[in-house]
Amino acid sequence: MNVIIHVADNSHFKYAQPICDLIYVSAQARGTGIAKRSAEYIELKMKTGKSVIALDGDTLVGFSYIETWGHKKFVANSGLIVNPDYRGLGIAKKIKRRIFDLSQELFPDAKIFSITTGLAVMKMNSDLGFKPVTFSELTDDKEFWKGCQTCQNFDILQRNDYKMCLCTGLLYDPKDKEKKKENIPVPKPFANRIVKPIVKVKKPPKFKK
Ligand SMILES: CC(C)(COP(=O)(O)OP(=O)(O)OC[C@H]1O[C@@H](n2cnc3c(N)ncnc32)[C@H](O)[C@@H]1OP(=O)(O)O)[C@@H](O)C(=O)NCCC(=O)NCCS
Repeated sequence: MNVIIHVADNSHFKYAQPICDLIYVSAQARGTGIAKRSAEYIELKMKTGKSVIALDGDTLVGFSYIETWGHKKFVANSGLIVNPDYRGLGIAKKIKRRIFDLSQELFPDAKIFSITTGLAVMKMNSDLGFKPVTFSELTDDKEFWKGCQTCQNFDILQRNDYKMCLCTGLLYDPKDKEKKKENIPVPKPFANRIVKPIVKVKKPPKFKK
């Protein structure tokens, strides 16, 4: 096995439909949404250098793409998918890292976000410095939320006026990185600030010799 992660281009168009199929099958199996996309849409992402593809020789291993929202103030890393035969091998982590780096190369000032119900994505994003946030902190660009229409929970999102649903919002703000560099304290997530630990760990008594 020799999996290589590429920034996708026109030479990868033949994988566009298999990517759509993989996303569709996985969304069905999971029961929650990964926005359904057409092969043309995936090709556009490839053509414009806004996607990452993992290949083992000619075999499609994984994919993810970038979308911009709210006049490029927000970038979403979306459509992360790994071929079931290659799961559990750290491939998603590599794709996530590459699409995250690519997002920052292309849109250095944009906030990067994902929405997910999946533990794997929550873990990977928090390792990259993403913080959990309410939907109010994400883009209000209606086109983004239209992508949720193919999710079976879309009625929940609609019922809540697009303010909450089953997904968790995860946000990376490049300003936090600058603050860290300048040693300006980065505010902790709201939950960390207000919830005090309930269980106090008792230190063992010190014995004198
Ligand atoms: C989610 C998915 C992309 C993970 O791909 P993968 O290559 O198997 O993931 P990795 O091996 O790189 O694992 C990355 C991390 O997620 C964890 N993880 C992977 N699958 C997991 C699962 N089903 N449940 C919980 N954690 C999981 C791994 O333990 C690892 O965490 P660690 O670094 O703390 O050990 C893959 O299962 C998939 O394509 N699922 C269907 C599509 C999907 O749900 N996409 C996400 C849309 S939001």
